[in-house]
Amino acid sequence: MPLPTIRYQHTRRTAAESLAEATGFCERMRSRRSVRNFSSEPIPLAAVEKAIEAANSAPSGANKQPWTFVLVTDEDLKRQIRVAAEQEEEAFYSGGAPTRWLADLEPLGTNAHKPYLALVPALIVVFAQKHGSQENERHYYVAESVGIAVGFLLAALHHAGFATLTHTPSPMDFLRRILRRPENERAFCVIPVGYPTADCQVPDIAKKTLEEVLVRM
Ligand SMILES: Cc1cc2nc3c(=O)[nH]c(=O)nc-3n(C[C@H](O)[C@H](O)[C@H](O)COP(=O)(O)O)c2cc1C
Repeated sequence: MPLPTIRYQHTRRTAAESLAEATGFCERMRSRRSVRNFSSEPIPLAAVEKAIEAANSAPSGANKQPWTFVLVTDEDLKRQIRVAAEQEEEAFYSGGAPTRWLADLEPLGTNAHKPYLALVPALIVVFAQKHGSQENERHYYVAESVGIAVGFLLAALHHAGFATLTHTPSPMDFLRRILRRPENERAFCVIPVGYPTADCQVPDIAKKTLEEVLVRM
């Protein structure tokens, strides 16, 4: 049976307003950077939870919302995640990763040392659900859906004034074990959330121009 419908709430803007809004949002998003120097200063967790609520509003295949966000503030859990992540990363950086991948990472200056995982006030570990809590509860386009939700989350956290990093230790199975998540979930990424240190530096990278990524037809 189709669901009953409700009126869609739409704010109509003029062309000038749309351009101004899009420009403002673009500028704000362009100031987001992946941060690897975090302060241990506490952050307002109510705002982080609101950002997770924003992520939860993302579109998903058949509206299954195949995601779980684990907000980790417990010092011992953060320390366990750091230790396990550094073990994985050690193997990755000392030969486990293809040479080409390591060469692509070199300009970013990343390495196996991840002190921020234990030091930040909060980690959001995002899990993707292969299926629902019962195996016959199908989920669709899981990676696409969770990726979109993480995009919402990074934008909302940045908008709220927090620094983030998208961290993907490879492999990530240890996260399910440490955080005691069920068998239908697999870790998607770890997002440290906090304030940058006062002297935080980021790599001076360039982004492709609009003309390089946009095809008009
Ligand atoms: C899917 C994904 C995985 C990433 N994994 C890592 C990671 O494991 N460690 C890390 O330091 N940065 C990681 N990054 C951050 C990228 O290096 C960063 O987004 C990229 O260099 C562009 O920099 P910017 O985020 O400041 O624009 C990841 C980013 C994405 C989107």
